[in-house]
Amino acid sequence: RGKRAFIAGVADDHGYGWAIAKSLAAAGAEILVGTWVPALNIFESNFRRGKFDESRVLPDGSLMKITKVYPLDAVYDTPEDVPEDVKTNKRYAGSSKWTVKEVAESVKEDFGSIDILVHSLANGPEVSKPLLETSRYGYLAAISASSYSYVSLLQHFAPIMNRGGATISLTYIASERIIPGYGGGMSSAKAALESDTQVLAFEAGRKHGIRVNTISAGPLRSRAAKAIGFIDMMIDYSSENAPLQKELSAEEVGNAAAFLASPLASAITGTVLYVDNGLNAMGVGV
Ligand code: NAI
Repeated sequence: RGKRAFIAGVADDHGYGWAIAKSLAAAGAEILVGTWVPALNIFESNFRRGKFDESRVLPDGSLMKITKVYPLDAVYDTPEDVPEDVKTNKRYAGSSKWTVKEVAESVKEDFGSIDILVHSLANGPEVSKPLLETSRYGYLAAISASSYSYVSLLQHFAPIMNRGGATISLTYIASERIIPGYGGGMSSAKAALESDTQVLAFEAGRKHGIRVNTISAGPLRSRAAKAIGFIDMMIDYSSENAPLQKELSAEEVGNAAAFLASPLASAITGTVLYVDNGLNAMGVGV
């Protein structure tokens, strides 16, 4: 039987989540996605109106199918966690069952189980502020949306994952090297995500027989990256300094994710896989 994947963090066709969905679909997986509640309407209407049709084309010429789109806000674990002003917010009130626990329950109800879980989301309200100027609120919000969200997804989805399954998140080298401009506690959030990848690989490996890895991706002009404000500079920097002097495509990250999720990677867990044209290996630029 084909594999079933749930990809959290798809709201357009520009980001890594979309590219991972495509690579998994090309490899024969059934695709479910979790879309941030405030972005849901526009994503679904663009999808319906055919705006993504061109980028839905798979290598065999067919169009990627998304079996179901679930509204998701990975900052909230259960309905009890949702503050009143969010509950009644116009963009949230139109959807229901979008906390992590409820989404996992809905997927279980609809499909029984999944094989692959992808976390392709991050948010840091103060990302454009240096860490030295970041508020406690901004720092904790970055960790909540970008790191704990993965712990929570795994907590709630691991019990419905088939043994031999795999989970993947996306990280960035700012966790371990200084990348000026990646602020607001986002560098801290990625460091937490990478450390958690090891601990979760142990715990989820022992308890559920699933693998946990993260991809440290090079720069991509996604919606989230454009919001940070230095993405073009990072892309130019990489083209100039990386061992492979080409622009990184989202598809290359998608394909690496498909590999990690496949039986070809059955002994790989707890790792950070660099998919960045080799930039991480450089000491100085030449
Ligand atoms: P993206 O904008 O395509 O993806 C981020 C997604 O997170 C969006 O769909 C957004 O709606 C969603 N999101 C934000 N807060 C959420 C929440 N509370 N609940 C549910 N969804 C939420 O951008 P991108 O860049 O593809 O990001 C995907 C992952 O890749 C992130 O973890 C990012 O840090 C990572 N990454 C990106 C790099 C880049 O240069 N674009 C480089 C290395 C890692």
